[in-house]
Amino acid sequence: MKPLPSPEKIRALVAEHGSPILLLSTRTAVAQYRALQTALPRVQLHYALKPLPHPAIVTALKAIDGWYDLATAGEVDVVRGCGIDPSRCIHTHPIKRDKDIRYALDYGVTHFVVDNPFELPKFLPYKDKVRLLLRLSFRNKDAVCDLSLKFGVQPPEALALLRQAHGMGLDVAGTSFHCGSQLVSNQKFLEAITFCRQLFTLAALDGIILDTLDIGGGFPVPYTESMTPIDQYCAPINDLLEHHFPNIRLIAEPGRFIAAPSMTLVSSVMGKSERFGRMWYYLDDGLYGSFSGKLYDHCDYPFIPLSRIEGTAGPERLSVVSGPTCDSIDVMYNDIMLPDMQPGDLVVGPMMGAYTWASATEFNFFPKATVVVVD
Ligand SMILES: Cc1ncc(COP(=O)(O)O)c(C=O)c1O
Repeated sequence: MKPLPSPEKIRALVAEHGSPILLLSTRTAVAQYRALQTALPRVQLHYALKPLPHPAIVTALKAIDGWYDLATAGEVDVVRGCGIDPSRCIHTHPIKRDKDIRYALDYGVTHFVVDNPFELPKFLPYKDKVRLLLRLSFRNKDAVCDLSLKFGVQPPEALALLRQAHGMGLDVAGTSFHCGSQLVSNQKFLEAITFCRQLFTLAALDGIILDTLDIGGGFPVPYTESMTPIDQYCAPINDLLEHHFPNIRLIAEPGRFIAAPSMTLVSSVMGKSERFGRMWYYLDDGLYGSFSGKLYDHCDYPFIPLSRIEGTAGPERLSVVSGPTCDSIDVMYNDIMLPDMQPGDLVVGPMMGAYTWASATEFNFFPKATVVVVD
């Protein structure tokens, strides 16, 4: 886990901006990008905006010549607003409307993803301008979020789809996949890269020369459990890429790995009550807000009362932590040991940058946490 801002700084920021706030460290995002780049030196890292589409991260990565992965017109607007060169972006949503394609094309993006025959004709009007990546499905029961259920052609059907696209005069640059998000094991990456090597060879026998491989996102971060350090995690992936794809353009689409450690939530206790033998704390942020990733992303975040960081916490007892809305589903932690807290006390949620603010709602008119860029 990245070092947290000091308690004094946290209190000062809450005094200035109110609560709840998400403290965004662009320096951390850049450090994460650099760590992954060192682990995968030949791979162009396209930051997937999805988990945290914040202009400050986009701009910070621009300063180190970053690349970007977009999926929607809204994400196009974010990178355009930051003055990003569109040739540094790819568009990876497998299912698009004509207006989505045109919006990205008008901006200058040329690389798009397809994964089924119905998507191919959509590119015919633009076939002189676009290069396609064929997304494959590699089902992964070990992934926290298996993204190959909804997207990707089944591997045995990939060559036929490739031939079909080529036969229509479309320029297929290569293949892509996403083995699932928060991949604790690197095994699926190895399996997918090996399969793609065979596919590239079979395609070449048909006269279809592919020059790009996109290995997607999924690189894991430590939330409440430790994780293999990223250089060790990537070493076998890197070796396999070197072995199988020495002269191919390599792309990855990391989102969580860059975004998650970059934001820390600070929320405050609105009230408390004693219910069924537990102390209940009601925060000003909850499941409908920054903790939405607990539902959508199946994620469990570290949770620390500020008094514990300051060393002033008293004895702990079994507690429940809930959000501010009038909905009883809005509970984040059951049976958690916490010191006694009073209304106004602050709590800290490290590692809350990915799939949190991005999927938060303002249900019950509780506003989303304010993002405060701290460096
Ligand atoms: C197409 C695509 N690329 C990249 C990502 C980012 O994945 P992760 O945050 O697991 O790195 C996602 C996440 O949903 C995705 O759908």
